[in-house]
Amino acid sequence: MQSLLRQILNDVQPLVGEGKVADYIPALANVDPNQFGIAIFSNDGELYEIGDSQVPFSIQSISKVFSLTLAIKHYGDTMWQRVGREPSGLPFNSLVQLEYENGIPRNPFINAGALVVSDMNQSRFATPHYAMREFVRKLSGNPELQTDHKVAESEYEFRYRNAAMAYLMQSYGNFENEVEDVLRSYFSSCALRMSCVDLAKAFSFLANKGFSNISGEQVITQEETRQVNALMATSGMYDEAGSFAFKVGVPGKSGVGGGVIAVVPNRFSVCVWSPALNSVGNSTAGVAALESMTKHIGWSVY
Ligand code: DON
Repeated sequence: MQSLLRQILNDVQPLVGEGKVADYIPALANVDPNQFGIAIFSNDGELYEIGDSQVPFSIQSISKVFSLTLAIKHYGDTMWQRVGREPSGLPFNSLVQLEYENGIPRNPFINAGALVVSDMNQSRFATPHYAMREFVRKLSGNPELQTDHKVAESEYEFRYRNAAMAYLMQSYGNFENEVEDVLRSYFSSCALRMSCVDLAKAFSFLANKGFSNISGEQVITQEETRQVNALMATSGMYDEAGSFAFKVGVPGKSGVGGGVIAVVPNRFSVCVWSPALNSVGNSTAGVAALESMTKHIGWSVY
């Protein structure tokens, strides 16, 4: 495994720094683009890592998988009345489908879908972001995980597009709580800081039929695990989901902080991080690293 990581690093080295770091908020724009790390956590409990694998970064949209998991735990199948399961084929912050489709977002990983999921969690918890952070601390085995309040605050300051989606959904009756409260919870969860090691561990339950070896609990059922992986495979990489399936062939989820997590079912979870992004907002070197990984292991879900 360690030699696999060295091979991947070697393959993608020329791409590290290629692209643009997310610059819509200053707190993200100041990250050094030339960083790169990978961590793999296997179902038998082994951790493998290389490069900047212990540097915490803003997990951003990767948090959408955690909030979805929390919502599934509570709402089960009923949650699919409020959010769809189809790829959108549009940018993650697009508004257009939402009106055509009566305020029901296409899937839980575009921003509109993640906001509905956050609204569900808002209804369930007194302090939704703290519940979420506690959940992620348990899954990663790292009680020190922190929220970057500066990132959350500046996302809130520039919230107009996400706010527009939430208010539009509210006009269709698909929102239960105060929009501004849900936006704050959503941004705080996106602003969690985690390293590749934290994330590879936290996502290990998705590679292990829903059981986390870190927290020692069945997080969601085996069937729900399959469903979350299917959603990541079809919608986790936004409008690059098709080509990610084509090139990489495992479920994945990206964030504009440059992190990408991927799941190799029944084997391991992996997190790659490199902050420079391609045109759809996915880490350039991160996607290339996962492509190199599945090539080397000669395995995909397809
Ligand atoms: O709401 C937003 O736009 C950001 N907090 C998250 C976007 C994101 O990470 C999309 N991922 N590629």
